[in-house]
Amino acid sequence: MIRKSPSRSPLSSARFLLAVASIVALSAADVNAQSHSRYESFRFGVCYYPEQWPESVWEADGRRMRECGVNTIRLGEFGWALMEPQQGHYDFSLFDRAIETFGRHGIKTIFGTPTATPPKWLTHKYPEVLHVFETGRPANDQSRRQYCYNSPVYRRLSRKVVGALALHYRGNTNIIGWQIDNEMNNENPECFSESCRAAFRTWLRQKYGTLDELNARWGTVVWSQTYSAWAQIDLPFPTPACHNPGLMLDFKRFISASATDFLNEQVEILRRFRPNDFLTHNGVFKNINYYGFSRALDLYAFDNYPTFDESPRYQTGATLTLVRGFTGHMMIMEQLTGPAGQTYLLRTPRPGEMRLWAMQAVAHGADGMLHFRWRSARRGAEEYWYGVVDHDDVPRARYADFQQEGRELQRIGPQVFGSKVVSEIAAIKDFEAGWVFDYQYLTKEVSVGAVYDALFQAASEQRHNIDFVSPATDLSAYKLVFAPQIALMDGELAGRLRRFVEQGGTLVMSAQSAIKDRDNAFTAATIPIALTNLFGLELESFQTYQPASHNKNAVRFDDGGPPPVQVFAEVLRPTTARVIGRWERDYLKDLPAATELRFGKGKAVYYGSLFNVESARYLIKRFSSELGLRPLLSNTPEQVEVTRRSKGSTEFYFLLNHGDTRAIVNPGEGFGDVLSGEAAPPSLTLPPFGYCVLKRERPDE
Ligand code: GAL
Repeated sequence: MIRKSPSRSPLSSARFLLAVASIVALSAADVNAQSHSRYESFRFGVCYYPEQWPESVWEADGRRMRECGVNTIRLGEFGWALMEPQQGHYDFSLFDRAIETFGRHGIKTIFGTPTATPPKWLTHKYPEVLHVFETGRPANDQSRRQYCYNSPVYRRLSRKVVGALALHYRGNTNIIGWQIDNEMNNENPECFSESCRAAFRTWLRQKYGTLDELNARWGTVVWSQTYSAWAQIDLPFPTPACHNPGLMLDFKRFISASATDFLNEQVEILRRFRPNDFLTHNGVFKNINYYGFSRALDLYAFDNYPTFDESPRYQTGATLTLVRGFTGHMMIMEQLTGPAGQTYLLRTPRPGEMRLWAMQAVAHGADGMLHFRWRSARRGAEEYWYGVVDHDDVPRARYADFQQEGRELQRIGPQVFGSKVVSEIAAIKDFEAGWVFDYQYLTKEVSVGAVYDALFQAASEQRHNIDFVSPATDLSAYKLVFAPQIALMDGELAGRLRRFVEQGGTLVMSAQSAIKDRDNAFTAATIPIALTNLFGLELESFQTYQPASHNKNAVRFDDGGPPPVQVFAEVLRPTTARVIGRWERDYLKDLPAATELRFGKGKAVYYGSLFNVESARYLIKRFSSELGLRPLLSNTPEQVEVTRRSKGSTEFYFLLNHGDTRAIVNPGEGFGDVLSGEAAPPSLTLPPFGYCVLKRERPDE
């Protein structure tokens, strides 16, 4: 999702290219096995900006933080101008003193490398480092993220400052981890600089080898676009008519690969000097394939601002689910604390919501919780972004809430640390397939992000955990897998899907899947390409219902339904599959809309529309009951979210009341209350926005 705008956009390695070229199956266990050893314990704390406050207040801040249970701060990420006031002259003394002051209070530091905010001397001496907008105009340097990460000069100066930083702190025992840069691709997800133009050509040359190959795979014969020299290839600047879809998809791959390279350069430097520290990066934004991007990191950090979402319960829950899947380990680097805004202002969390949302993140797998920020800034770009204490430094209700959260997480955090959200249901998340719909958006109702929100919501309503997994994941740990509009198909992925079904899994694939190859091009094969046997069908035709599509058709299943159409109504021609749903109206009435086929020990189900919340509900209900998947907990009212984290035979149940009224839950006998340490009563009342964490040993089946 894209932050810094009140309206939420949908969720939309050394080298990503290599990663894609050699898609290797990662089992869920492999992902979870990604090094976690450097991240050793549950961290609770805040983001702190010592450079924005007189040193005289640090001591008192440290004391108060301690009172709240803070054991970690993040600092430094915007401090380049102080760290290198003149080119090549490094001065980390302010940060030395801050780290030391907080260290005396037992507070450890996550250091943010400062490359998201170049100092003025840098952008003025080397204007070629500036980010360039699609119009060809360079970004003004009076804000942040105004750099181009393909600029060789920027890369060199970034390596130098990060090297100096890592060397300087080589022996510092108060630093435990590093955040590299800050929120890459937030605010500048596409750059049109000369450096990017040159790097794009080099990247394409490496990928395609020859122009003939590129011309063929992009189909440049269309509209006389054949390139006869590499220098003719350009970034997708504005054009009168639309761009080549092959170029557009490669542009995004190139951006992702560039971001990954920039990140990994810093990874290398930090690992050299601080081999025992954990490394992370924060946030989820456009044009990055996070599975490849995060491969060299120890864990991934999310910046969690639920008031950007219309429905924090489901949309934030879906995003947390996504982020957890990047490396298998997650922390929150920035958690919303209060009112928030820049030029706009978001709604203020109601009393209780801040803690509820923090606990929701833990419920979905976070192993650390840092709030943004300790003090509300009095000046500068984020005056409206409230921290734990107000501008006048008076601790008010948010402080008390934060203190309570700290007390609670001191008990909960260490116990749940390292436990996993284990799911029987998964949905494949293919970033590249999502990018196809960024440019060729088809209709305004095609939203890849909304599909994952819908699957999350339906699973959550029915009390199931769900994972979102990379297309390279070995799916054998799951029983029910959704493939939502995975437009791009290749032999590897098709093989993985086939094996999953053969070995007993149920696969449910939606419309707009397996329509193209990885070049973003249609092929001579019949759709679903490479999968017609697995599903026992061919795509016969389709209707594209224009917005609002919802009431224009529906799928009447053999046992009812009928979920409303979402944009596409595909007509299926079963070869060996059995029809389980037909179109309800329009000229498509009674034509096949959904099918299933037993294949090996499993089942391949095809759903001829995009998933929306109604179809997700129907399909999860039908196939989870067919597979005998048990809900995590029964007897919980609708307003209460339930998740489960497990560690060995110990199970932690998070019960989160998203309602503004009390809720009674009846988990039954045999649970302990993690907060009180006592046996939990079989029936509990949760206050508005209240929660509890229960624990038990997994009962024998
Ligand atoms: C994040 C960012 C922070 C701060 C915060 C509140 O996106 O990393 O630096 O800007 O949002 O806006």
